[in-house]
Amino acid sequence: MCSVVGYIGKNLSRSFVVQGLERLEYRGYDSAGFACISTETNKIVYTRAEGRLKNLVDRFDQNPINGYVGVGHTRWSTHGAASEKNAHPQSDCKGAVSIVHNGIIENYRDIKNALIAKGHTFASDTDTEVIAHSIEDALQSSKTLNEAIVQSIKQLDGAYAFISLIQQYADSMVLVRRRSPLCIGLGDGEMFVASDHIAFVDKSNKVIFLPDESYAIVKKDMVELYDFSGNVLPILVQDVDATWHDMHMHGHEHYMLKEIYEQKAAICATVSFLRDSALTVWDQLGITKEQAQNLQTINLIGCGTSWHAARIAQFFFETICLLPTRVHLASEFRYMSFFKEDDSIYIAISQSGETADTLEALRMINDMALSTAVLTNVASSTMVREAEGFLLTQAGYEVAVASTKAFSTQLTALYWLANRIALEKGIITAEDMHTAEEDLLIAAEVLENSIENYKQLIMHDLAKKYALCKNSIFLGRHISYPFAMEAALKLKEISYIFAQSYPAGELKHGSLALIDENTAVFVFSHQDPVMYLKLLSNVQEAKARGGRIIAFAFEEQKELIELADHLFIIPHVHTLLGPLAMTGLMQFFCYHVARELGCNIDKPRNLAKSVTVE
Ligand code: M6R
Repeated sequence: MCSVVGYIGKNLSRSFVVQGLERLEYRGYDSAGFACISTETNKIVYTRAEGRLKNLVDRFDQNPINGYVGVGHTRWSTHGAASEKNAHPQSDCKGAVSIVHNGIIENYRDIKNALIAKGHTFASDTDTEVIAHSIEDALQSSKTLNEAIVQSIKQLDGAYAFISLIQQYADSMVLVRRRSPLCIGLGDGEMFVASDHIAFVDKSNKVIFLPDESYAIVKKDMVELYDFSGNVLPILVQDVDATWHDMHMHGHEHYMLKEIYEQKAAICATVSFLRDSALTVWDQLGITKEQAQNLQTINLIGCGTSWHAARIAQFFFETICLLPTRVHLASEFRYMSFFKEDDSIYIAISQSGETADTLEALRMINDMALSTAVLTNVASSTMVREAEGFLLTQAGYEVAVASTKAFSTQLTALYWLANRIALEKGIITAEDMHTAEEDLLIAAEVLENSIENYKQLIMHDLAKKYALCKNSIFLGRHISYPFAMEAALKLKEISYIFAQSYPAGELKHGSLALIDENTAVFVFSHQDPVMYLKLLSNVQEAKARGGRIIAFAFEEQKELIELADHLFIIPHVHTLLGPLAMTGLMQFFCYHVARELGCNIDKPRNLAKSVTVE
């Protein structure tokens, strides 16, 4: 998704802005741009380029613009093609207002038509350009900068975070936030601005996260914060605990590989963090102990991999604490009938804590005065600020677009929480709780060892074979079905191989027709004997039609072992933790298939790490 970065202060801005954009580029983008108030002319100058950030940096050789106030942008196109003219910054008619923007101005057509009628001329296909022209228009009829900003943002619908340079106010930057994150790092005679504090984490740990529907006027040594009506807001400066070191590749070829290998440590860190917060967990989740004891249902909401984690966790909550659990796909949630459940907790699951669909679902539930919490990996995220409670995974920064350690730590936290609720309800004992924590650590061990056991086979043989495959089907049953969904997502997002997941029992109701000798059939087994036998019958059906079977089986499942063309055997873990134990190996396999195909693994085409548009 798009990223914005800005600087104002005692140093020239360009190198910080470019470095900030580089740090955020893992989120995905297709063009980039930089604007500043020129040190030579005191006017706004800019340059933009299609494609990678390097193309923008190359332009600085011919056009070495720089200034003490500067903004930059990487764009993931929504309105208008990925081209230089649609890259940000976008300007007004005179080039005296410059905008870099994340999000979407939903009513941009109406605003654009009204501005064209007033004589404004537009140069791009973007929604962003209307912001620049509307500020230009408002400046003409306003006495102060504040008045102009308020007048302009009153017209804008949608979710947006933008930074504006205004030539007339060359000692300031204007930041506006509605439903899309934006923050300011405080420096000594300088201010760093970005859509994510990772951009400036080594420059400042004192951060102002703009509240929703607010704007800030930022000078090199002061910040003023206002609501959308222009009323002054109090400023909350937070200490953020993060280091840039966490984001290095540490010798791995890709972040994804590094993050696959970090999973055992991340799971252990999550268990130990949760264990330490065992007594305060209800406070953190924003409910009382009595509410926890009286919970009648659980509601989980997420997108993509986080939704898959929720689908797997449904089995945790229903089996361990005997609570009916609904899982909602955040992108559909707001458009479906909603049946309020009072004795419930609505848990949004999101690695980033910024995903627009999940955030909007959370806001809708907040508005209904229900208990909300977020399970996230980012303590400073918008969801943490907006949900009533939160639970943190301890995965550390996840940089690769394909989620790996965020997924395994989400499963860890959700399994732990299911047990913790069961303990509070008197369904399990403190000793059972301890065993559950130990079971998670065992699964983490198996996750790591399984990669080691099959590393050579995957790297030197299987990856080459399966890189040639065009179609694949991923099968599971019960808890291994949502895991098959996650596995299919992993393969397709990084290797672009078509992958379809099915509940194995559904094969004969239609999709069996797809299977022939060119179809790779990935099977994720189950440790429960009944589930295993049912799954086995489905695998036999696929095998009989010529499907090539790649089985993730558990030890002693000899029938499946015999049927498989290729095989990974996993030691037994707690029945509900089978997916967690298989996670590393599945990801490692997908990673090497994509590597074999020469794909851009950390930044797959068309995708972004943090999906901040709906
Ligand atoms: O940050 P979130 O967990 O809310 O992101 C949701 C999805 O966009 C994300 O899980 C996506 O599906 C993964 N990057 C896929 O690997």
